[in-house]
Amino acid sequence: MPDAAGPEPLLVIDQVTKVFGARRFFSRSSYAQKLSVADASLHIMPGETLGLVGESGSGKSTLGRIALNLLTPSAGSVRFQGTDHRDRTSREKRLLCRQLQMIFQDTRGALDPRWSVGAQLREPLDIHRIGAPEERRARVIEMTQRVGLDLALLKRRPGALSGGQRQRIVIARAMMLKPALVVCDEPVSALDLSIQASIVALLETLQSETGTAFLFISHDLRVVRRLAQRIAVMKQGRIVEMGPTQAIYDSPKQRYTQDLLAAAGLRAPERRSGQLCRAVSAA
Ligand SMILES: Nc1ncnc2c1ncn2[C@@H]1O[C@H](COP(=O)(O)OP(=O)(O)OP(=O)(O)O)[C@@H](O)[C@H]1O
Ligand SMILES: [Mg+2]
Repeated sequence: MPDAAGPEPLLVIDQVTKVFGARRFFSRSSYAQKLSVADASLHIMPGETLGLVGESGSGKSTLGRIALNLLTPSAGSVRFQGTDHRDRTSREKRLLCRQLQMIFQDTRGALDPRWSVGAQLREPLDIHRIGAPEERRARVIEMTQRVGLDLALLKRRPGALSGGQRQRIVIARAMMLKPALVVCDEPVSALDLSIQASIVALLETLQSETGTAFLFISHDLRVVRRLAQRIAVMKQGRIVEMGPTQAIYDSPKQRYTQDLLAAAGLRAPERRSGQLCRAVSAA
C-alpha cells in the first residue's frame, strides 16, 4: 500500500477471493467449486499502469472483472476512488461505467456487427446523454483521428475492418468518456506482431495525453515491460510477487516469475539444483 500521507490510490483491491460455483447455504446441489482468485490485494494509483501477468488460468481476467464491478468477490473488498463497490447506489453504479472501462482481446465480440462503427463510437455519449448532437459528432471525429483512423471508416460495419482497425475503434470507444481506469485484458494478443507494436504505442500515447490508469493484463512480458510502472504476478489465483517493473525484471524473487521471464526470452533459464549437480559432476 502507498504511504498514508501520499496521494490516494484510485483503486484498492483488498484481500479479494473469488470462488465460482459456490454452493448456496440452503442448496443441496453440490457441484465443483473453483477458487479463481485467492486473497489477492493490490492498488493502482491515478495515471499508473499496473501490469498483471501469470500463466493461463491464474485468475487475471477474473481479478480484472472484479476490479470493474462486473463480478462480485466471494470475500474481500474493492474500493474505487475511496468508495466500496458494494456501497454504491444503482445510480452511482451507472455513473461508475463512465469511469471504468475495459478493452478485450476479442474485438469482434466487443462490437455489434449490425451497427456502423460511427454509431458505436457515439453510443456511450448517447447512453450518458453527454453533449448536444453536434458535440457528440465532433467528439466521435476527434477520437477517430486520435486513434489514427480514417474518418471514412465511420460509415462501415465492424466486419469490414481489419483486426487492428477494430481494436483502434474499441480503444476509441473505451476512451470516449475519459475514464479514470481502463482494464486492458490481452488487448494485443489476437493481433499480428507487426500491428501489436502500433497498438501498444497508441495506448502509451493516449495514456500520456489523458492520465487514465491502466490495469494491463497480458501473457506477453515484453509488452508489459514497456507499458507498466509496476507488475503483479499471479499464480493459481494468488499474487505471488509485486513491485516496480525494473526490479521484477532484473531480480525476480520467485522461481515462478523467473520461469515466466525465461519463457519470454527475457532471462536465462534457471538451472534446477539437479541440473547444476549434473553439470558440476560432468565437468
Ligand atoms: N465463470 C466461471 N465459472 C467457473 N470457473 C471460472 C469462470 N471464469 C473463470 N473460471 C476459472 O477460474 C480460473 C481463472 O480464470 P481466468 O479466466 O481469470 O484466468 P486467466 O489468468 O485470465 O487465464 P488466461 O490467461 O487463459 O486468460 C480458471 O481456472 C477458470 O477456468
Ligand atoms: Mg484471461
